[in-house]
Amino acid sequence: MRTYLVTGGCGFIGSNFIHHLFNTYGEDIRVVNIDALTYAGNPENLKDIETRPGYRFVKADICDKDAVRKVFSEEDVDVVVHFAAESHVDRSILHPELFVKTNVLGTANMLNCAKEAWQLEEGPDPLGNFREGKRFLHVSTDEVYGSLPEDGGFFYETTPYAPHSPYSASKASSDFLVKAYMDTYHFPANITNCSNNYGPYQFPEKLIPLMINNALKGEKLPVYGDGKNVRDWLYVEDHCRAIDLVINKAKLYETYNVGGHNEKQNIEIVKTIIDVLREELPDSDPRKAGLSYDLITYVEDRKGHDRRYAIAPDKIHKDLGWLPETAFKEGIRKTVQWYFDHQDWMDHITSGNYMNYYKDMYGNRKEI
Ligand code: NAD
Ligand code: TYD
Repeated sequence: MRTYLVTGGCGFIGSNFIHHLFNTYGEDIRVVNIDALTYAGNPENLKDIETRPGYRFVKADICDKDAVRKVFSEEDVDVVVHFAAESHVDRSILHPELFVKTNVLGTANMLNCAKEAWQLEEGPDPLGNFREGKRFLHVSTDEVYGSLPEDGGFFYETTPYAPHSPYSASKASSDFLVKAYMDTYHFPANITNCSNNYGPYQFPEKLIPLMINNALKGEKLPVYGDGKNVRDWLYVEDHCRAIDLVINKAKLYETYNVGGHNEKQNIEIVKTIIDVLREELPDSDPRKAGLSYDLITYVEDRKGHDRRYAIAPDKIHKDLGWLPETAFKEGIRKTVQWYFDHQDWMDHITSGNYMNYYKDMYGNRKEI
């Protein structure tokens, strides 16, 4: 039986990935989830699996050496899937140091603890020898590559790193640490750099769930700057399939970009969300009346706002046969349906602290 150690499993992508693992491999796997339960970690995301025999939750900070070491001593971990991170660019602009701590020092600690647990004293490789079948998958972002011009170009695995935000700089640093472990010790790892994910369980500070939540409440939809910044959108289940393939089929030490050809301007996304909500809500629903493009409000731009991201998924397609399967409008429809069906989830999150955050983050943004 293979044991996965997932970090940040109570967050958006981590919880989707744990669901994907159990849906795909059922009783044949064990999953240990280390999560500090920051504002972004929500145990409700895994409510349906928390009592499964093959699942264990450990509340711990990835920076805590003793806690992480203890997990490695108690479990024979085969695969680490490292999601835990501070993940929101706007927050990184306010509190960069927290991003350095979790994303850089936390990753260094995860690497050290895995290396210590998997290392063999002797073997043929002068750089390092590790137990068979062990692998560390570091989940990173396309934002490490910086910003592309509006009129063309794509991010490839060979594109030089040029991060701009404290978030992307901290993720780039963590990628370099993983690369350094591979080069220095032949530590068994892979890195994936994916584009913007969307889908179930995403915290409503990110563009798509924030717009769905605000639109359903008839509140303003704050679009930064001219609304023409471009992101390459990836349905989270397509991303989970890609990670699974990398773990099972990729050669060690390879890096893969995940995403592809789903580029949209932010304003287009917001309009699609309004359109889909109008199509999905019955005429009798009182929320439908207020749903129009008039809710769109242009606000002052994000500092250092990257203009365009776009991934060429050629390598993962060629090596592993992966392509995204979810067309954008279908993905938005599924996401909207999920939020309709999980209104309680949204209500729990958007009570209390979230509202204070929302006021701090968006209340002071000047309309333009
Ligand atoms: P998220 O913010 O939804 O979840 C992060 C999780 O990590 C939360 O459960 C949180 O409690 C946990 N965590 C944070 N600090 C921790 C710490 N010190 N110790 C232990 N746990 C901690 O993030 P997400 O959107 O699910 O992103 C997951 C990973 O994917 C991140 O590494 C992120 O950089 C990367 N990524 C995300 C996207 C995206 O669009 N969401 C795109 C590219 C890459
Ligand atoms: P976000 O979901 O924060 O992801 P990232 O910054 O990592 O790409 O933002 C996606 C895009 O949407 C980005 O260009 C910023 C923009 N945006 C808005 O226009 N309004 C908002 O309220 C938010 C949260 C984001």
